[in-house]
Amino acid sequence: MLMSKTESYGKLKEHFNSMNNVHLRELFADDVNRFERFSVIWEQFLFDYSKNLVTNETLRLLLGLAHESNLSEKIEAQFKGEKINNTENRAVLHTALRNRGNEEVYFEGKDIMPGIRKVLEQMEQFTQDVHNGKFCSYTNIRFTDVVNIGIGGSDLGPKMVCNALKKYSSGKVNIHFVSNVDATDIEETLRKLNPETTLFIIASKTFTTWETLTNANTAKAWFLKSGASTADIAKHFVALSTNHKACNQFGIPSENMFEFWDWVGGRYSLWSAIGLPISLYVGFENFEKLLAGAYKMDSHFRNTPFERNIPVLMAVIGIWYMNFWGFDSHAVIPYDQYLERFSEFLQQLDMESNGKRVSRDGKMLDYSTGPVIWGTIGTNSQHSFFQLLHQGTGTIPADFIAFAQSLNPTDEHHNILMSNFFAQTEAMMMGKNADEVKLELSSGNMTESEIEKLLSHKLFPGNKPTNTLLIDKLTPETLGMLIAMYEHKVFVQGVIWDVNSYDQWGVELGKQLAKSIYPELNHKIKIKSHDGSTNGLINYYNSIR
Ligand code: F6P
Repeated sequence: MLMSKTESYGKLKEHFNSMNNVHLRELFADDVNRFERFSVIWEQFLFDYSKNLVTNETLRLLLGLAHESNLSEKIEAQFKGEKINNTENRAVLHTALRNRGNEEVYFEGKDIMPGIRKVLEQMEQFTQDVHNGKFCSYTNIRFTDVVNIGIGGSDLGPKMVCNALKKYSSGKVNIHFVSNVDATDIEETLRKLNPETTLFIIASKTFTTWETLTNANTAKAWFLKSGASTADIAKHFVALSTNHKACNQFGIPSENMFEFWDWVGGRYSLWSAIGLPISLYVGFENFEKLLAGAYKMDSHFRNTPFERNIPVLMAVIGIWYMNFWGFDSHAVIPYDQYLERFSEFLQQLDMESNGKRVSRDGKMLDYSTGPVIWGTIGTNSQHSFFQLLHQGTGTIPADFIAFAQSLNPTDEHHNILMSNFFAQTEAMMMGKNADEVKLELSSGNMTESEIEKLLSHKLFPGNKPTNTLLIDKLTPETLGMLIAMYEHKVFVQGVIWDVNSYDQWGVELGKQLAKSIYPELNHKIKIKSHDGSTNGLINYYNSIR
């Protein structure tokens, strides 16, 4: 059902009218227990959502929206392998990949857990073999470097996780990620490497992605140029894919293939064989801990009443801002250097999933979906875009994420970092009003008229909503929880918006056009097959090459 047809939607519209002049300062002043009431402590997580423009009534209505969307049934349908990706006729079972319990998971009448465990065993064995030199170079040397070639979900997830878990690296291999078809990416990576000690992972669900295959062929040529033979390819290249035939054609034998299945979406695939670079980098035990963390979050999501359910609360609050307040952008600011790539990963997860304008059954939506997700780490972001968050004309809700314990506890660094972390959500919420600004300025040497001139520039409206996630420590387990939390948030929003979060038809048109333009480049003849601008650009490009 379209969200706009639900009873709760109408009630929320009305409720919004009573909320849009409320200031967060007042909400806190009216309720001394607001923090306790609007926060959840679960495992190593504290989720504080009290600095949001919500009351009990708002949450009651938002959760009503979730119930009217049959969220509980839809959660079960996903976990139980129903083909909820209706436009591709596929199930969505990334949760089975991290099922650490004994439950069977059925897809088309067959338990898929034995197949999943078999690939995990293969990954474990391979990780050990690479680490101890049993799987070694064609010249019998231990591999020192692993290059993962993939793009989108076959790159962003494992790259983000390897970066986040750098501190947990086994130290056995260096890891590199090549994704862009711009040759600079692969050239700059290979320049530093020795073909004799480099292992390539070709990660592609479909094994048809143009960028990945182009990079894989360049890597193969580089390897062969070093004096290796075609038969040696099998010793230096492995594939993570659902497409056996294409892997074999590339020269990778089936025993060097780590399979996964079409019920694993690209952007949800880091839990599958696509996680092999993670296992090689931080060790299989840590990869298992990542899975275990995600499994805990799955159980929380599946079994906790919506009132205390972290992904559900995050999702409905996001919908409140997107559809009732019109805040169509959402920032994610981790205060941890290791999460440098986290927002980039979330962009694909969220925007490729919910950037949709028609409902599951193809009807045009009469409301917005899919906010723009963006952000980067604090404190760096404070010195770039925070000006706009605090004093810009719009409102951008944000998630602030930090860890209580630092993995690098050097001097006062962590307390300074955390002071900034706490200060920013306080500043966004409280702002600074005219009386406060005047008081501050009058304690200096300024005259009344100087103060008046500067006043409006120094005002902070506040009332900028934030979620805070304060997590005990960055570990493989808590990282697994965090990623799974966002996956479920995206799912819940997709359910309420009534979109299929698991297809991505919107990426196809550009791919098709690129294929048709490619043969037109470097031509002497004038290209006339496109619109005026595209023809003009191609012809100019050809003329200056
Ligand atoms: O272009 C979008 C996309 O299909 C993503 O959804 C996917 O993660 C990426 O391309 C890579 O696809 P593959 O793993 O098949 O190479």
